[in-house]
Amino acid sequence: MHEADIRVFDSPALLKSFAAEHIVGTIEQTASRPVPFSLVLSGGSTPREVYEEIARLSEERAVPWDNTHLFWGDERCVSPDAQESNFGMVWNTLLYRIKIPDTHVHRIKGELPPQQGAHEYENDILRFAGSLDALFFDLVLLGLGDDGHTASLFPGSPALSGGERIVAVGERNGIKRVTLTMTAINKAREVLFIVSGRKKAPAVRDTLMENGSADKFPARGVCPPKGRVQWFLDREAASLIG
Ligand code: 6PG
Repeated sequence: MHEADIRVFDSPALLKSFAAEHIVGTIEQTASRPVPFSLVLSGGSTPREVYEEIARLSEERAVPWDNTHLFWGDERCVSPDAQESNFGMVWNTLLYRIKIPDTHVHRIKGELPPQQGAHEYENDILRFAGSLDALFFDLVLLGLGDDGHTASLFPGSPALSGGERIVAVGERNGIKRVTLTMTAINKAREVLFIVSGRKKAPAVRDTLMENGSADKFPARGVCPPKGRVQWFLDREAASLIG
């Protein structure tokens, strides 16, 4: 992977408020840009408070949501109001509190049969971008699983190998998931990993310090040729990287 840009925060609360400020600040910088800002949201439990803080900041500041398009890194194949839905989590923490045109919210339809949901999401992204060659995401938020997975790219996943596909179907604990592939993630101009807690420390070490393939530690494959990668960690998550 590229030389990573790592910032360590003293507490989970500081990590989350700094991450929210960084995301909102980045969107604000593009307010007058003719090309809309594209933000890919991550699921999992870590970003909940980041999204809540973004919603709070949006009530104080003129965040240009009308010039922003939202995408998801992955989704469980469940209905959008299920507890496991990443769309549902973002709705409950952020979306219901901001004014963003419905057409700017590119959710993955977890309620559809997985292949159909993947196909529709891929078409939606390509319509937005115009073509695979023209595709880029301004900011991709990612989490890190205990096993080094990111989005729904698990160790050994075929969607790690790139190729032309930008959306794939995977499975975890008996639940199918639709995920961006590594090809799509590596279209980012900026990737921000937000990782919190001691449980994640071995995966952070393995991803950032060990020699190993992306097949074994999927997050190592995040290496956008035209983008930068940042890691925001709390002390506990960073405790094994010295
Ligand atoms: C998801 C994400 C997954 C997540 C990591 C970290 O679960 O929806 O796809 O990649 O970001 O597993 O999850 P936690 O924040 O819950 O630890």
